[in-house]
Amino acid sequence: MDMRIAVGADHAGFPLKEALVNFLMENGWDVEDFGTFSTESVDYPDFALKVAEAVARGDVDRGLLVCGTGLGMSIVANKVPGVRAALALDVTSARLARQHNDANVLTMGARLIAPPLAEEVLLTFLQTGFEGGRHARRLEKIQEVEKKERELG
Ligand code: RB5
Repeated sequence: MDMRIAVGADHAGFPLKEALVNFLMENGWDVEDFGTFSTESVDYPDFALKVAEAVARGDVDRGLLVCGTGLGMSIVANKVPGVRAALALDVTSARLARQHNDANVLTMGARLIAPPLAEEVLLTFLQTGFEGGRHARRLEKIQEVEKKERELG
C-alpha cells in the first residue's frame, strides 16, 4: 500500500471527496489533497489540472477527481499527456479501466454515486493491476496519438 494518491474535487464533488479522503487515510493510504476545501463554487478544470499534472509528472501514482458527474473532470484530465482518466461509477468499470486501459486517474460523480459504493469502486481501482499483452499495444497507440497531437499543436 505504498501508493501515493492525488485527490481533487470541485464544490459539487467536495462532500464525496472528503468522505473518500477520510476512507483512504483511515486505511493507511498516502493522500495528497489538492482541494477544494468547501462547497463554495469553484471551476472543476482548475482542480482536474492540478491532479492530472501531479500524475503526469510522476509525483503520485494515481489520481482521484470528483465533480458532480465525473464528466468534466475526465474531460480535463484526459487533455494532459500521459494521463488516462476513467469515469467509473461501478466496480466492473473500475476493474476494466485498470486491467485494459491502465487508467491512472479515476473520476467519479458525487451526484450519481453514494459513498459506500464509491469506496468500493475506488478500492478496486487502486488494487487492480494492468493486464498488459494486447492492451499494452493499444496504450502505445494512445502515446502515438499524443505525440502526433503535440506535433500538430
Ligand atoms: C458543477 O455544477 C458541475 O457542472 C460539475 O461539478 C461537473 O458535474 C461537471 O462536469
